[in-house]
Amino acid sequence: MKEDQASITAYTVLQGVLFTATKPGFEALVAQSTRDACRKVLSASAEGQKRLRQLDSTLFRTLAPMMEKAVLPGITLHYVLRKRYIRDAAEKAIAEGFTQIVNLGAGFDTLTWELHSQFPDVNFIELDHPATSAQKQKILTAGAGENLHLLEVDFSKTDAKEALSNFSGFDANRDTFYICEGVLMYLDVSDVERLFKGLKELTDTHARFVFSCVAPMSSKETNCGWLLKLYLMIKSEPLNWEIEQQAVEAFVDAQGYQMTDLAGTDQLKERYLAGLKHGTLHRGEYLVQTDVIRKASEEQ
Ligand SMILES: C[S@@+](CC[C@H](N)C(=O)[O-])C[C@H]1O[C@@H](n2cnc3c(N)ncnc32)[C@H](O)[C@@H]1O
Repeated sequence: MKEDQASITAYTVLQGVLFTATKPGFEALVAQSTRDACRKVLSASAEGQKRLRQLDSTLFRTLAPMMEKAVLPGITLHYVLRKRYIRDAAEKAIAEGFTQIVNLGAGFDTLTWELHSQFPDVNFIELDHPATSAQKQKILTAGAGENLHLLEVDFSKTDAKEALSNFSGFDANRDTFYICEGVLMYLDVSDVERLFKGLKELTDTHARFVFSCVAPMSSKETNCGWLLKLYLMIKSEPLNWEIEQQAVEAFVDAQGYQMTDLAGTDQLKERYLAGLKHGTLHRGEYLVQTDVIRKASEEQ
């Protein structure tokens, strides 16, 4: 991460969502409220405005699919699917009684912004690297309710447990749903393990964690190539933590969590793309839902 610059990949995700949302046939995958929120976030910075202009450019819209095919086939549609999956999981958690949602490395994602006014009794917190979080605070703080908090944290220096336990906006008595979308791959494995351990220890309440992770570049489960690695290196956001789908259950088990769902390309396709002619889908990043395992004596 560049210290003084908002995450380039965070802009890219949002641009990808809007790109898919404006493709004929795919409009229904992204709600109008989400599109409006994405535009609001992008239009607040020079980089974001550039991304919006690109979306209106015929040349860009012609070249982008070719670039995508070379670097990360199917990724813009994948961003939409992974956000749909996480939104469904978050709404389900709220319906089950979870009253705190924490998004770790939220980037310019709009979920908490959209949900916090819909669910005023739920506490929403976003954590991100200082440069990205500061940019988002400028955009969203005005007009936000008291149940939405943005917190600046560099996970390579301060872990989520330390940051949240020292933050007055975090309520350790609430059942808490954690999100980590498109982030773990940028962390060292020791920081990933520290994150899992810390979230487990933060509260004695029910805790659920949904995250995305990536299969190694050498895996047969991925269709990303060396060009992606090169791109991320150049952008100072290299991939650090990769794990095969078959290994992730044992990994979360070792951290004291129980895996309750795993959604790779085929599951996402089945859930969200029925009847859509979608072309090549992204393979490599997948989503995992877990619950913290608490011993009966720890349960409240
Ligand atoms: C690919 S973006 C994903 C953003 C968002 N979660 C989404 O999916 O739309 C990666 C995010 O991870 C954050 N990130 C990467 N390394 C970080 C670190 N060391 N500390 C805090 N945040 C970090 C970046 O600031 C960025 O917002």
